[in-house]
Amino acid sequence: MVKIAPSILSADFSNLALALEWCEKSGADYIHVDVMDGHFVPNLTIGPPVVKDIRKRTTLPLDVHLMIENPQQYIPQFVDAGSDFITVHAESSGDINKTLAMICNAGVKSGITLRPGSPLSLVEPYLTEVDLVLVMSVEPGFGGQGFIPESLDRIKSLRRSLDSNDRGSSLISVDGGVKLHNASEILAAGADMLVAGSAIFGTDDPADTIKQFKAMD
Ligand code: DX5
Ligand code: ZN
Repeated sequence: MVKIAPSILSADFSNLALALEWCEKSGADYIHVDVMDGHFVPNLTIGPPVVKDIRKRTTLPLDVHLMIENPQQYIPQFVDAGSDFITVHAESSGDINKTLAMICNAGVKSGITLRPGSPLSLVEPYLTEVDLVLVMSVEPGFGGQGFIPESLDRIKSLRRSLDSNDRGSSLISVDGGVKLHNASEILAAGADMLVAGSAIFGTDDPADTIKQFKAMD
């Protein structure tokens, strides 16, 4: 069954409680939280205090996507805030192995991701260690961009790599430009989990849209 992680980046930040309620009642599997620092990507979003408040408002697991420089410095804060998954970019600064180890040692699931223009070889060394591989299908930084079609081949290639090396336990998640109309081909390429922001919160009835995504299989 497809796992759906609505990205609250496209929700109304002044009414996150309502967005979380829609996610809960419609059967969403995770809440995707996009953390941006204005350095790794040219946008600023939210930090640990907001994650902490979101944690109090939902029982859904929090899938925290860090688009920040030096993620290692902030792992303890995102752990304390109640993250269930913490995903870091392979291109970010610091020792990625150490950063992933910090996440795991704190009892949190770890994820690795990469920009759409980065070679998949960048994440290969971490595939045995992580619980989730996030394929970015837009340039990280903003919601509402179009899905990069070449991402489908990257998902297929990653699926083959995970399966052939018997590393099948990591989930493949796809983030950026995921819509109801392209979800089935993304799943057919090998994705387990879909992140969708504008496709959900940009509609009149986000809860119903989540249900439609869940019925995708
Ligand atoms: C972009 C973020 C995404 C974003 C996706 O850097 O990582 O999670 O919210 O938004 P949509 O679904 O609108 O492309
Ligand atoms: Zn994201």
